Amino acid sequence: MQNLYEPALHFHNVDYSVDDINILKKITGSFPKGKITTLVGPSGAGKTTMLKLCNGLISPTAGDIFIDDVSVLDYDPIELRRHVGIALQSAPMIKGTVFQNLALPMELRGQQLTEQEAIRILDDVGLDKHFLQQKTNDLSGGQRQKVSIARTLINRSNILLLDEITSALDRASLREIEELIVKINRQFGVTIIWITHNLEQALAIGDYTWVLKDGHVVETGDSDLLTSSTNEFVKRFVQGEIE
Ligand SMILES: Nc1ncnc2c1ncn2[C@@H]1O[C@H](COP(=O)(O)OP(=O)(O)OP(=O)(O)O)[C@@H](O)[C@H]1O
Ligand SMILES: [Mg+2]
Repeated sequence: MQNLYEPALHFHNVDYSVDDINILKKITGSFPKGKITTLVGPSGAGKTTMLKLCNGLISPTAGDIFIDDVSVLDYDPIELRRHVGIALQSAPMIKGTVFQNLALPMELRGQQLTEQEAIRILDDVGLDKHFLQQKTNDLSGGQRQKVSIARTLINRSNILLLDEITSALDRASLREIEELIVKINRQFGVTIIWITHNLEQALAIGDYTWVLKDGHVVETGDSDLLTSSTNEFVKRFVQGEIE
C-alpha cells in the first residue's frame, strides 16, 4: 500500500524506548492521505504509543516521522497539534459548558470562537444548538465523543487520531460515531488513524489496517487482511485466541 497512495504520515525506522525498554521497534510504513487506517493488536502492543508519536505528545528515540514530508521534529508543537487532532476514549474536558470546551483550542491561540461557528460545528457532529450551554458533566458517552470530535473540527485538523473512542458506547451511539467519522473522512478529506479492538468495525470502516504485536508491525494492507491473512499470528488474533 505504501507506493500506491500519497502518505499523510510516514514512519521511518521509528523506535520508542523508556528506561531502556523498547516499546516500539523499527516501525516503518505509511498512512495514506484521505483514507481510514485502523490500528489493531493485543493489549500492550504499542498502539497508543504510536498515536502519541503522531501528534508530538512524545518523540521517537530513533528514526523519524514525516507529515506531508516534513519531520515532526521540525514542526512547531502547537501547529502540529492543530494539524493532527486526537480523540480519546475518556474524551477529557474542562468543567463548564460545551461552548467553553469548543472555544478553548482557539482561546489558547488568542482567538475567539463565535457562537455561529460553534453552532455550525455542533451541527456537523449531529448535535442541536441547545447543547452549547449544556454542562459537559451532563453529557452521555456518545454526546461527549461528539463534542470531543467537534473540537478537532474547530482546529480543522487534516489528520485525526482516534483511540478506542467507541469502546464504552452502547450499540446505537457506536453506530452514530462510526457514521460521523466516515462523514468527516469523506466530506472533509480528513485522514483517520483509528485504534480499535472491534475487528468488525475495522473491517467495515477501515480502508487499511496495521496489525501490531509487541512493539512491531506484523502486517499492513487492505482491511481485508483481517479475513484473508495467511500470517499465523494475525489468524489467531482475529479468531480471538490472543487478546
Ligand atoms: N511511559 C511509559 N513507561 C513505561 N512503559 C510504557 C510507557 N508507555 C507505554 N509503556 C508500555 O508500552 C507498551 C505499549 O503500551 P501502549 O499503551 O502503547 O499499548 P496499546 O497497544 O495501546 O495497549 P491497549 O490496547 O491496552 O491500550 C505497554 O507494555 C506499556 O506498559
Ligand atoms: Mg492503548
